[in-house]
Amino acid sequence: MYSRKVIEHFQHPRNVGEIKDPDGVGRVGNPVCGDIMEIYIKVKANRIEDIRFKTFGCAAAIATSSMVTELAKGKTLDEALKLTRNDVAEELEGLPPIKMHCSNLAAEGLHKAIEDYLKKFKREKGRVATSR
Ligand code: FES
Repeated sequence: MYSRKVIEHFQHPRNVGEIKDPDGVGRVGNPVCGDIMEIYIKVKANRIEDIRFKTFGCAAAIATSSMVTELAKGKTLDEALKLTRNDVAEELEGLPPIKMHCSNLAAEGLHKAIEDYLKKFKREKGRVATSR
């Protein structure tokens, strides 16, 4: 049912864990299955310098979290925002149709982490601008 790559990422997920003092955090959940995913990013010079995840979910949710961190690491924020659930699924050599929503969770988690960073970054900039 699962591709060789999905099983490999599920058994040996990359970038598992938290980042202390992250620049952005994305939290997403699937109300249907109850699975939860958190993605943490560290940003430097507009690039994702480090990325980690914590996922409580099915094998596909863990494999897609792992893959999305691999795909996003080192990318600019714009490039990372363009990653879709299909990119994640394709890199994993496909997912069973009923598991496609799991890859949506991973892409959405990444996008939310970036949005969180951009919100904080704008707030910081605003503070600097008004304090001068
Ligand atoms: Fe919930 Fe996979 S079954 S994310």
